[in-house]
Amino acid sequence: MPDPSPCIYLDNAATSFPKPPEVGETMLRMIREISLSPGRSAHRFSLAASRVIFEARERVADFFGCPDSSRVVFTSNVTEALNVGIFGLLQTGAHVLTTGMEHNSVMRPLRYLEKTRGVILTILPTDPTGGIDPDDIPKHLKAKTRLIIINHVSNVTGAVADLAAIGARKGGALLMVDAAQSAGVFPLDMEAFGIDFLAFTGHKGLFGPTGTGGFLLRQGLVLPPLTMGGTGSNSELEEQPQLMPDCFESGTPNTVGIGGLAAGLECIQKIGRETIRLREASLTRTLLEGLSRIQGVTVYGPIPGETRGSAVSLTMVGKSVTDLAFLLDRNFGIMARAGLHCAPAAHRSITTFPQGTLRLSPGFFNTEGDIRSVLAALEQINATR
Ligand SMILES: Cc1ncc(COP(=O)(O)O)c(C=O)c1O
Repeated sequence: MPDPSPCIYLDNAATSFPKPPEVGETMLRMIREISLSPGRSAHRFSLAASRVIFEARERVADFFGCPDSSRVVFTSNVTEALNVGIFGLLQTGAHVLTTGMEHNSVMRPLRYLEKTRGVILTILPTDPTGGIDPDDIPKHLKAKTRLIIINHVSNVTGAVADLAAIGARKGGALLMVDAAQSAGVFPLDMEAFGIDFLAFTGHKGLFGPTGTGGFLLRQGLVLPPLTMGGTGSNSELEEQPQLMPDCFESGTPNTVGIGGLAAGLECIQKIGRETIRLREASLTRTLLEGLSRIQGVTVYGPIPGETRGSAVSLTMVGKSVTDLAFLLDRNFGIMARAGLHCAPAAHRSITTFPQGTLRLSPGFFNTEGDIRSVLAALEQINATR
């Protein structure tokens, strides 16, 4: 276990910490009190596990504006969810439109399919903050455009894509959204934004545990699964059932994790998603304003006052970003992340490739005091360079 001395956690874009107590309590209760194999047996423990999963599905559907909870599929993270969608929807020679701000969970499968299936990629240019112009989308649509893939909120700069505007310009293509950084914080409504495939991860803004995530599939959209096997349904068949969501959920699921995810979502609904967004926005604004007063620090991303996520990327003259992260941790007990944040494309777009940036990402449970501490620490480090 790491040193338990006081620390300030500013790496919420990697995974949120701490989690609301209800998340851990729910998971502990589940592992102690019920067997965790849902939909397999007919005894009361298995039925209790099935109920946990069913209620979690209902909660997720409701949260993301999806009218039918059978269109919610649980996976082990957003990476798996995106892979199901990308491999399932892009056949040989298909055209895909994406942005220069995508995470490797999008770029790596796309680059693979470019080589193996002749998939054609168009990467939309971004402005220096990592923003894209929705009006660029129709200019790049082709008859063969199957998919538009958009990172809703950048994990590097915090830039926010205008999903409603993008959805209105998608033409005959399908819209896939990587909501890793936005789910639980920014409004996300499948129907209102015209989203066909919404991929989320459980362990960031949704306050769930690692190993949880999923996707929501628009009604009527059909694609093949990536994995096949036992689903607990149609067991007489040696072929994968077509039934939603079973066809995508082969193997015993992470029942405890999904229970924890549902508990996280319930907390968000009690606090209010907009309350969370406003609090994070206020902490981020304080951080940005303070950083703008430290000479030698360059911040990448939308300026204070603009709508943005809480991921704040910076560099400091005369200090490598890895040194910065190391000094913050060792000397000040402040946890941040340095490097490329699994998004080399984004760093190429904002010209910070290959060294990357130091990323500070406040979350709902941080305080203004935490922000003052990191600003003071950076000032001190800056003074010694
Ligand atoms: C924008 C974005 N997409 C995808 C991912 C991958 O998330 P996970 O590791 O939970 O699959 C992340 C995580 O950092 C992210 O920030």
